Amino acid sequence: MPTVNDNFLKLAAGYLFPEIGRRVAEFAQANPEAEAKIIKMGIGDVTEPLPEACIVAMHKAVDDMSKRESFHGYGPAQGYDWLREAIVEHDYQSRGCDIAADEVFLSDASKCDCANILDILGNDNTVAVSDPVYPVYVDTNVMAGNTGEADDSGRYGGLVYLPAVEENGFTPDLPTTRVDIIYLCFPNNPTGSVATKETLKKWVDYAREHGSLILFDAAYEAFVTEPGIPRSIYEIPGARDVAIEFRSFSKNAGFTGTRCAFTVVPKGLTGKAADGSSVELHGLWKRRQSTKFNGVSYIIQRGAEAVYSEAGKEQIAELVSFYLENARIIREALEQAGMTVFGGVNAPYVWVKTPEGQTSWQFFDTLLNDANIVGTPGSGFGAAGEGYFRLSAFNSRENVEEAMQRIGAVLAV
Ligand code: MLT
Repeated sequence: MPTVNDNFLKLAAGYLFPEIGRRVAEFAQANPEAEAKIIKMGIGDVTEPLPEACIVAMHKAVDDMSKRESFHGYGPAQGYDWLREAIVEHDYQSRGCDIAADEVFLSDASKCDCANILDILGNDNTVAVSDPVYPVYVDTNVMAGNTGEADDSGRYGGLVYLPAVEENGFTPDLPTTRVDIIYLCFPNNPTGSVATKETLKKWVDYAREHGSLILFDAAYEAFVTEPGIPRSIYEIPGARDVAIEFRSFSKNAGFTGTRCAFTVVPKGLTGKAADGSSVELHGLWKRRQSTKFNGVSYIIQRGAEAVYSEAGKEQIAELVSFYLENARIIREALEQAGMTVFGGVNAPYVWVKTPEGQTSWQFFDTLLNDANIVGTPGSGFGAAGEGYFRLSAFNSRENVEEAMQRIGAVLAV
């Protein structure tokens, strides 16, 4: 019998979103009359069709595949040059960020990249995460053997948890002890908070001073609406020496089912080998990707390229404002119902305090049972998320309005 990776046995709970799905399925089975009424505002999954520009480009790419002269087999593992060049021009150079096309690696998802990046990093690093946090950062460190056991609150030994709470505007303070790796996510999942240039500069300065690596998840950058808020960590001078950035087409262009993302690993960003020498992370990631990944399909990359066309940009802006309008409706309805609400201005997530006396999971049950609404309990994102609840603005307008009426009625009782 083979042995297993015992680190998996340390995982304190099932992955958050399947766990919610399991509970919802259980509820639906016990209450078949309510099943059709359930409105899902839990996982941040988009609902609106792909932008027309992407559809047109993908149709054309399918046609390319039908002819010998324009057929594509294996593509470059890092992604086609035309897409990497479009990314760099529109997402980075246009904002004054010094990033080159060969520093961009296409992939199927930033969730996977956030996890896979651990392949090229050692197991003896001190890792810091904010609390609450996107659970992938924590769970993948557990799987990789970078943590001890979980305590009663679900916090794993060996990780440094940085509370992101109301008092600090849901942006964590710098660690008081030295850490090697820091995961940051802005606009933040789950709290919807954003980091100003000053805040990010503080982190870049910390990383430069302490030789730390920032893993910056910018999957929600398209939702930044307030002027002056950075969309990329590379807007901060010096960041390319200390940060890897993860980006996604899932939330801006609705690619959750289409799958396309990218990671930027700047050249010159280094880690330390066992013999003390410096090793470029770019080379290691390239080696990792070319061994374990065969690239994103040609058709999907053509769809992603269309995101940067004039029509694509306009259509994406419309999609983003549609979801942000949902977020506004959610925020205002909950405020009117007397709730304390955060986020939802530069992010598709609204972070709400649970009613007095209810834990996150109790409020989850209240909304599921009494309003047939599914959200995400804040404690699922970490101990400091207890007492909060996340609602996703990714939904149809009809569902959002209906959900707010139902939640309002439940809270009025
Ligand atoms: C979420 O709901 O937090 C996101 O959909 C998760 C993800 O993008 O993987």
